[in-house]
This record gives sequence, structure tokens and C-alpha cells, in this order.
Amino acid sequence: MTNSETTIPSSPKSANPSLDAKHLEEAFAIFYAESQKLEAQQSALQEKIDQLSDELHKSNQRLGILVNAIPAGVILLENNIVLLHNPAVLHFLPTLSAGQSFQIPGEWEASIAPGEYLISNSATPGSKPQMTVQVIRIDDGIRSFIQIQDITANIALHQETQRENRLTAMGKMAAGIAHQFRTPLATALLYSSHLCDDDLAPDTSKEFAQRLRKQLLDLEKLSQEMLRFISNRPSKTALSSVQQIIDEAQASIQALFESKDVKLIVQCSIPSSVMLLVEPKSIPNAIVAILENALSVSKPKDKVLLQATIDSKKLLITIEDQGPGIASTIIDSLFEPFSTTSANGTGLGLSIAKNTIEAHRGTIAVKNSMHGAIFKITLPITSE
Ligand SMILES: Nc1ncnc2c1ncn2[C@@H]1O[C@H](COP(=O)(O)OP(=O)(O)OP(=O)(O)O)[C@@H](O)[C@H]1O
Ligand SMILES: [Mg+2]
Repeated sequence: MTNSETTIPSSPKSANPSLDAKHLEEAFAIFYAESQKLEAQQSALQEKIDQLSDELHKSNQRLGILVNAIPAGVILLENNIVLLHNPAVLHFLPTLSAGQSFQIPGEWEASIAPGEYLISNSATPGSKPQMTVQVIRIDDGIRSFIQIQDITANIALHQETQRENRLTAMGKMAAGIAHQFRTPLATALLYSSHLCDDDLAPDTSKEFAQRLRKQLLDLEKLSQEMLRFISNRPSKTALSSVQQIIDEAQASIQALFESKDVKLIVQCSIPSSVMLLVEPKSIPNAIVAILENALSVSKPKDKVLLQATIDSKKLLITIEDQGPGIASTIIDSLFEPFSTTSANGTGLGLSIAKNTIEAHRGTIAVKNSMHGAIFKITLPITSE
């Protein structure tokens, strides 16, 4: 009989005491049986609770061992006050203790990438920045979880891989370099040998000297650009607003646009509080390299549109022209050095721009639209 089927006989109104006693006995028997069942269920439940508590305790212990063993520092905050932390945190924050309010130490220097900091070892005079750490914060209501990780080796590895890639590219470039240098060098040699001629009229001699100088200046410019391509690490960085970067790029190319009667339309509605950590001039130069190309494929009265927006917490710059689009023969190798369709160009402009942007942890991509080419640059924002 199930609980729902259990019925306790109702007390009859008859005045037969032996019948009443019988009904009462039956009711007690049912009550006893039901309470026995309940007791058995309760003890099974208690057993289950004990077993689960035991498992919880064991898995807490295992989790504790795991959290204490991982090399990353882990902190649990409540209302930004440290509740718990693992021992590894003390490697990064030696004085941290429970009950303190948490904040990134002032002496940690923010790096280009958001959430990354350089910690220099002031205890050892003259030592280099010692460690780069990555801080990940996950907020969940009043609680926050902080993970601090030493990424010095990852960064060194990344830079080494980038350097190796550049060296490989340099190898590929060798033939291109020889080709680029050969003609101006041969011309320069020719002018210099003419200059050695004693019978040369002073006017002709002056003209040869000027031509020689021009060839040498071109060669110098080419070698400077190649050096810029090889060293892509931002050295000294400074905070700069998006507007400052765009203004700087626009100022250096506006006159060229006007001289060709091409309209440069700039749309940027990003507040001045949005800052980027950049090497001065580097990002404006990269934008100028793209604008130079856009200008070179534009006809008078054409428009080039530069837009700056925030997309997924990153700065997004798009540059769109009304030219013929990127030639299909070059689109796959567009960002490689010496990829050019121009008789006068070196083919280094976009490869240098890409290096610069990637050195700032950004990305650059291109696609052809119905009206021309669209370049898209993304860059991490440091502060808002
Ligand atoms: N907006 C554009 N529209 C069409 N083609 C383009 C555009 N931008 C770049 N290109 C193509 O990409 C090539 C490479 O550009 P890049 O700036 O690297 O070198 P370049 O302009 O040829 O020479 P330089 O080193 O003097 O800039 C160009 O020669 C051109 O064929
Ligand atoms: Mg160019």
C-alpha cells in the first residue's frame, strides 16, 4: 500500500468498545508502519548527505591542492577585499594578505596590451624590467576572481618567433634588395666616374654631383625603410588619444590630397578619454602609408573615407577609397616586403605598416569592396 492509499479507519459512532479498540489498534499499526518507512527514508537521506558532504570535502581538498600548486596567482575578492589567495600570489604581491583591499600596485607599468604589466626589479640596481604579468579579472556580483600570471617567457617566445619570421622574410627579401639597389647604385657609380673626368665643365660637373646626391639619398631612404621593417618593437611608448593619432596622420598628408583634388573625409567621434599606448609617430606613419596608397589610386574628385570607431573594446580604423581595388595578382602577398605594382614604389609601405601595427598588438586586413579597397586596422585601447 502506498502513502497516498493509506486510510485510517474512522471511528464509528457505535457504542461497541471492542470494535473501537480494534479500529484504534489498526490505526496505530498503520501509523507505526508508516513512521518506520519514514525513518528508513530519513536515514537513507542522511547517509546520502554524509556521502555528499564527504565528497564535497574531498573535492574541496583536491581543489585547494590544485589552486595552491598552480604557478599562477589566484585571488578571491568580495567587494574588492581579499577573501582568499593562493601562495603563488605572494611571488607577485609579497605583502598581500586577506582583509586588504585589492589594487594593482602603482609601480607596475601598464604594457601595450590591456591587462599586462611590466614589473621591474628595483631591488637589483640597473636590472632590466624583470617580469611581464597578465592580470585577468572576472567579476561576478560582489565577488571577483583575479588571476595573475607570469608571461615573460611567452612574450620572449613570441618576440623570438616574430624575429625569426622577419629573418625568414629578410632571406626572401635578399633578391628584392639586390634588385632595388642595383640600378640606383650603378647610376651613382656612373655619375661618380664622370665626376673624376678632369675635362668636365663646371656646370656639368655640378649637375652630375646633384644627380649623384639624389641617387645616394634614394639609396639611404631605401636602407632606412628596410631597417624600420626589421626592428618592429615599439621602443618608447606614450599615451595618445585616437584624435591625436588621426590628426597627426591627416596633417602630414592633407596637402598631397589637396594638390590632387581628392577629398579626405575623416569621421571620428571617439571621446578624447580613449587612450592608446603607442610609440610616437609610429601609428600615424602606418595610417599615412595606407592613405598614400589610397591617394595614388584616386582620381581628382574621388573621396577617401577614414572612420574611427570602437568595436569589441578595440579601436577600429577603416580606410576606404574609390580606386580600382587591390590587383588579384598581389592581394595574397600584399603585406610582404617588395610586393608592388608601382614602378616608383619600393613595396615596403604596407609591410612596414603591418609590422608597426602588429608590434602594438593590433591587426591589419584588406578587402576589395564594390567601390575600391578597404583597409581595417584594430588596436588595443589602454584606457577609457
Ligand atoms: N588602396 C589601394 N588600392 C589598390 N592597390 C593598392 C592599394 N594599396 C596598396 N595597393 C597595392 O599594394 C601594393 C603595395 O603597396 P605598398 O604601399 O606596400 O608599396 P608601394 O605603394 O608599391 O610602394 P611604397 O613602398 O613606396 O609605399 C601597391 O603597389 C599596390 O599595387
Ligand atoms: Mg605605398
